[in-house]
Amino acid sequence: MRTVHLGTLAAAGALLLATVPAIGVSGGDSGGGEGSGAEWTSPHGAADEASYSRLAQITPANVRKLGLAWSLDLPDEVALEATPLAVDGTLYFSGGYAEVYAVDAVTGKLRWKFDPKTWERRPDRFTFGANRGVAYEDGRIFVAEMDGRVDALDARTGKLLWSADSIPNEPRYQFNNSTGAPRTMNGKVIIGGAGADAGGRGFVTAFDARTGKQLWRFFTVPGSPEDNKGDAALEAAARTWNGEYWKSGTGGTVWNGMTFDAEADRIYIGVGNAGPYDPERRSPGGGDNLYTSSIVALDASTGKYVWHYQENPRDAWDYKATPNIVMARLTIDGKPRKVLMHAPTNGFFYVLDRETGKLVNTPGKTTFINWASGIDFATGRPIENPDIRYENGRTEIWPGTIGGHNFQAMSYSPQTGLVYIPIHQVGALFSRNLADQTDDAVNIMGLVVKPLVKQPGDGKATLVAWNPVTQQEAWKVTHDTVWNGGTLATAGGLVFQGTAMGRFNAYDARSGKELWHFDAGLGIIAAPMSYSIKGKQYVSILVGWGGTSAAMSSVLDVGWKYGAQTRRLLTFALGGKARLPKEPGRDMQVYALDDPELAISEADVAAGKQLSLACMSCHGAGFRGAGAPGPDLRESGIALKLDTFAQMLREGRMEKGMPQFKWLSDDQIRQLHAYLRARAREVLGLRQAAAPATDAPAAKLERPVTY
Ligand code: HEC
Repeated sequence: MRTVHLGTLAAAGALLLATVPAIGVSGGDSGGGEGSGAEWTSPHGAADEASYSRLAQITPANVRKLGLAWSLDLPDEVALEATPLAVDGTLYFSGGYAEVYAVDAVTGKLRWKFDPKTWERRPDRFTFGANRGVAYEDGRIFVAEMDGRVDALDARTGKLLWSADSIPNEPRYQFNNSTGAPRTMNGKVIIGGAGADAGGRGFVTAFDARTGKQLWRFFTVPGSPEDNKGDAALEAAARTWNGEYWKSGTGGTVWNGMTFDAEADRIYIGVGNAGPYDPERRSPGGGDNLYTSSIVALDASTGKYVWHYQENPRDAWDYKATPNIVMARLTIDGKPRKVLMHAPTNGFFYVLDRETGKLVNTPGKTTFINWASGIDFATGRPIENPDIRYENGRTEIWPGTIGGHNFQAMSYSPQTGLVYIPIHQVGALFSRNLADQTDDAVNIMGLVVKPLVKQPGDGKATLVAWNPVTQQEAWKVTHDTVWNGGTLATAGGLVFQGTAMGRFNAYDARSGKELWHFDAGLGIIAAPMSYSIKGKQYVSILVGWGGTSAAMSSVLDVGWKYGAQTRRLLTFALGGKARLPKEPGRDMQVYALDDPELAISEADVAAGKQLSLACMSCHGAGFRGAGAPGPDLRESGIALKLDTFAQMLREGRMEKGMPQFKWLSDDQIRQLHAYLRARAREVLGLRQAAAPATDAPAAKLERPVTY
C-alpha cells in the first residue's frame, strides 16, 4: 500500500528530519530533554518521555488557523488512552482491547488493523478495555495485551512476528493484566502489568525485541523467603515487610511510566500502589513495604537493581508512582544536573538526580494535599500529618485515589523550562468501618473507599505549568471537571490538552492563555502528539472517553452515554478544513426503567450490592454508569427481566467488552438483579416493593476487583 520505500524505517525518519529544514525544528540538548522531532517514536514522543515536540510551525501567532486535516472513525472502540506514534509516514496506536491500528499519517486512511482477540483466547483474564499505546523499534510495533502477552508486529503489514507471555503462569498472578504501553530499549522491549488493587505482585519483564525471548524479570516487591533467597534487592525489600505478605498480597505493579536512559543504560520504572490498601492487612505492625510507590532504577542490560526512591513509604492510600517519568537536564543552584521529574498521584512534584535517585530540591505541592506537610529534603521522606492512616477507623484524604496526577501525560518544554501537568482534585474517604459503604463507595479488600467532593476546587481540575527549578506554579488554567487528557508541549510555544467535556485546547506555553479550541464531540482522556511530513506539522489526538472513571462514577459522570458518540482519531494542521459530523451532546438524565410487577427483598439488595463490585469497573460504582466502558444498566432493557439479565451474565458479549460470569450462582444473579432494580427505582423516586426476605446465603465475592 505504501508508495515510497525509504530503506529502513528508522533511517527514513532521519532522512525526513534532515531534508525538511523549513519546518523549524529547534535544537535541544542531548541525554534527555531533547524531545521529539518530525517523528514521534515512543509513547511520550522520545526516550526522554517529555511529551515535547521540537516542531515549531504552529505557533501562538498562527494557531487560530489550525483546523481538522482529517479524522478516522473507530467504531469498535470505547476508552482511548493511547498517544499515536508517527514513524515513516504512518501513525500507530492501540485501541482499548490492544487492537493495533496503522494509519496513513497524511490521508488518515487505515493501512492495517491487528486484533489480538484476547477475549477468545483468555476469557479468564478478560477485564475492561484500557490500553495506553504501542512501542516501536527497527521495523517492529510492540503491544501488550490485557492478559499480559506482548506481541511484536511487522510495522509494514501488521503481521504477528512473535508473541510472548509477560506474566508468570502461576495462580497468584491470575489478577495481573497489562494495560500500559511497552517501551523499547536498544534491542529489548519491556512491559509491566496492572492488578495491584487486588494485591497482585508487581514486576517488569524484558524481552529480546527480535525473537521475543525473555531476557530478565525484576520483581518490584519480595516473594516468599524462599523466593527471595540470594537476590540482594529482594532480600533488602523483604526486610521492610512483616507477616506473610506473599500470601496476603503486596501490589506494586508497573502499569505506565518507564523511562529508558540510553546514556546510563538504565530503565527507571514507576512502581504502583501497595495492595491491599490497608497496610495492616498486608504487612501488620509496620514496614515501608519496598518498592511500592517508588521509582526504581534498573540496569537495562541485566534488570539488576541500581537505586530506588520511595515516594510513599508504607502506602495506605492507593498512591502510585506510575505517571510518566521525564528525563531532563536542569540547572539547579548554578549546577547542571541530569534529573528525572515526576508528579505521582500523591500531589507532590519530585526532581531526582538520575545518578543517585536523591532529591535535588524540595518537592512542591501541585494541588491540595492533606496527607503530608512536606517532604524532608535531607531524608527524602514525607512529613506525614497525624491521623491520616485511618488510625481512628477513617480518614479523609487529598489527593484521592485518582490522584493529583494520573496516567494522563505531563509534558516538559526545555524552551520555557516548564512542566505542564494535568491535575485533578477529588478527595477520598478511606474507612475500616464497613458501615461506611454507601452506594457511591466501594469495598476494596476490606477497606471502604469513596470519592469526596467537599474542599474548594474539588471535582475540578487544572492544567498546571510548573517550574521544576523553583518548585513553584508558573500559571494554571481551571477546567470544569476532572479526568481530562494528557498534555503536549511544542517548540512553537504551545501546550495542547483535551478535556473531559470534549474540547481540544491550545494554550500559550508561557502565559497559559487559551488561544484556540476545537469541539471534539466527546470527552478526551488521551494525550496529543505532533509530527511532520513534507514540511507540514500535524497534531493528532485520540478521542474516546472512558478509562478507570467508572469506579469514580459519582464524580466523573459528565453525560457521555455509552455508545452514543463516535470514537475517533483527529488530526489537525494549519489551514485544515475538514468537519466532523454532529454528535449527540452530553446528557445527564438517567432514563431508568422499572418493572412494577417485580418484588425485591432487602436481603437480596444488600447481597447484590456486595456482588456489584464485580461490575463496578465497567458499569460504575453502585451501577451508576459513567458512560464508559459499559452502559448504564439502570437504562437497560436486557437488565429489566431476570431471565434476560441472567442470560447476559452467563453468555457475556465478549467481543463488545462484556465478560462471561460463569462463577455466579442463580442466587447471586437474582441478588445482583435485585440491587440493580432497586437502584433504578431510586432514580425514578419509587419505593421498593416489599417482598419476604429470602434465606439465600450471603454473597461471597470470589473474584476481587481489578481496575
Ligand atoms: C469488563 C467490563 C465489564 C464488566 C466487569 C461487566 N460488564 Fe456488563 N457490559 C459491559 C459492556 C461493554 C457492555 C455492553 C456490550 C455491548 O455493547 O453490547 C455490557 C453489557 C451488559 C448488559 C447488557 C446491557 C444492554 O442493555 O445491552 C448487562 C445486563 C450487563 N452488562 C450486566 C453486567 C453485570 C451484572 C456485571 C457484573 C456482574 C457486569 N455486566 C460486568 C462491560 C462489562
